[in-house]
Amino acid sequence: MLTYAEAIRVRRSIRNYSKQVLDAKLLNKINNLLENPSKGPFGNTPRFILVEKPEARQQQKVKLGTYGFISNAGYFIGGCVEKFEFAEVDYGYSLERIIIELTRLELGTCWVGGTFKRKDYEILLKTTDSETIPCITPVGYKAEKKSLRERLGLTLTDGSKRNPFEMHFFENHLENPLSFNPEDKYHNALELVRRAPSAVNKQPWRVIKQDNKYHFYIFRDKMVGNTKNTDLQKVDLGIALAHFKLGVEEQFLKGKWHIGKPGLCDLEYVISWIAE
Ligand SMILES: Cc1cc2nc3c(=O)[nH]c(=O)nc-3n(C[C@H](O)[C@H](O)[C@H](O)COP(=O)(O)O)c2cc1C
Repeated sequence: MLTYAEAIRVRRSIRNYSKQVLDAKLLNKINNLLENPSKGPFGNTPRFILVEKPEARQQQKVKLGTYGFISNAGYFIGGCVEKFEFAEVDYGYSLERIIIELTRLELGTCWVGGTFKRKDYEILLKTTDSETIPCITPVGYKAEKKSLRERLGLTLTDGSKRNPFEMHFFENHLENPLSFNPEDKYHNALELVRRAPSAVNKQPWRVIKQDNKYHFYIFRDKMVGNTKNTDLQKVDLGIALAHFKLGVEEQFLKGKWHIGKPGLCDLEYVISWIAE
């Protein structure tokens, strides 16, 4: 099985799925992951369900549409979390940890933010007024061939491209970029942040190191539409925190999340990690 760092490196958004059914053993493993989600850094645990598409169509009269972005997916993971200022961060964190486990099971996924029918999932998840559904993902085996949409270059972005390390990670202030040092275990954890998926591949994470603290910020991009339901760039930050934490855990580093007031720059502050 792949390590977390390896799984993070090989994961790609899969938009075209094989029609192969998932066997009972695998479905069991997926359901196990969904029944035991990680608590987010802000303390909320989202809840998730696995939906098999034809079944959902017959029993619940829902279509699970994704407006053509995803082809042939037979299974979807939907989820919800209690609404609050950082709900999307906890959701992104929790679902990305599941997505990395699914990658280790050789399954494909794709974060879907704006382009799905939320109503269907509200019915299936039986959400209350205080819960929100930030994103979903299909899950299944990747198709051998790329979809027509992919071949025509109609998918939103080239997911393989990432900005250099120095564009995202700094020491003390934003004018002082960090250069990647493979000997530094925290640089390795930040490198996993750099590999993270993000809405429209905008990579909005910025991290400022200050002594033993790592402060996480959002560099907002107005191009990323915040639907009335969800703040996709907060989901991106949650995903980044999951990658960072997996890097920390896999290298046996110790520390804790801390909500502080670093005041080091004008960007939108999210949370800090204090290394022991
Ligand atoms: C919060 C979030 C929402 C996304 N929403 C969509 C979407 O609605 N449709 C889509 O095709 N891809 C969506 N993506 C996938 C991104 O475009 C993709 O992660 C990014 O381009 C990087 O590519 P990669 O995942 O292959 O590394 C979303 C990703 C994230 C993190």
